Amino acid sequence: MTTTVTAVGGQGSTAPAAVAARLTGVTHHFGEASRPPVLDRIDLTVAPGEFVCLLGASGCGKSTLLSLVAGLDEPVSGTVEVPGGRPALMFQEPALYPWLTAAGNVELALRLRGLARAERREEAQRLLTLVRLEGSGPKRVHELSGGMRQRVALARALAQEGDLLLMDEPFAALDAITRDVLHEELTRIWTETGRAVIFVTHNVREAVRLGQRVVLLSSRPGRVAREWAVDIPQPRRIEDPDVSRLSAEITEDLRQEIARHGH
Ligand SMILES: Nc1ncnc2c1ncn2[C@@H]1O[C@H](COP(=O)(O)OP(=O)(O)OP(=O)(O)O)[C@@H](O)[C@H]1O
Ligand SMILES: [Mg+2]
Repeated sequence: MTTTVTAVGGQGSTAPAAVAARLTGVTHHFGEASRPPVLDRIDLTVAPGEFVCLLGASGCGKSTLLSLVAGLDEPVSGTVEVPGGRPALMFQEPALYPWLTAAGNVELALRLRGLARAERREEAQRLLTLVRLEGSGPKRVHELSGGMRQRVALARALAQEGDLLLMDEPFAALDAITRDVLHEELTRIWTETGRAVIFVTHNVREAVRLGQRVVLLSSRPGRVAREWAVDIPQPRRIEDPDVSRLSAEITEDLRQEIARHGH
């Protein structure tokens, strides 16, 4: 099998990309190939503007899949296409630069995009407003709460070019109330920006609260075990009966996956 990793920028093309990301027959393993692969012939297409949540047991390959889509690693075989350019990434830890202010962290991403100083100021302020931190631009990282730091990280991710946002358990370290608020913010920002999102979580309710589609991965080998379309209208709340019902169904499948894998 051949490997082709495509991360071609969308510059020069006015036609919208037909997909935000497409994985075709993606197989990946680390080191020796004798063990079952971490990811095994994964086929996954994310439409432009689509919000897809990835669930699976710990160690099943969710972060590995994101790193392949991000172009941080190349699959052993199969193809990864991201026609809209390098995706933005957001992790569980906000990983902000502590010596910069909130605005400074966002401006740095804009500088890497080549924006001039005045433009950077304006755009950083716009993005901080989008995440409801308009008054916090001059604050240093240690002056921000955990939830505020994740908002800055989100603003910084949105400062990057590309129409795909990859999120790896971005709210896992937050308390339930802050997480709830950020779910609302993320849904609003997703609607406003029209970016596609691949969101990894262990939290089934969070997946159903946010996603248009929930994809469950199996473990060793990592395959797409099952998918659900989430037809519950937004804005949803995590305690909505429809969210609870679908979450219970998905949890049952996730439990079986975890039991099968033994952790
Ligand atoms: N750089 C690496 N070198 C060797 N093995 C790795 C590497 N990265 C991940 N793995 C292994 O690949 C498997 C999948 O890891 P991955 O981090 O993708 O899982 P995950 O689904 O994100 O888990 P979690 O839910 O705990 O974050 C694990 O067995 C892990 O030990
Ligand atoms: Mg992970």
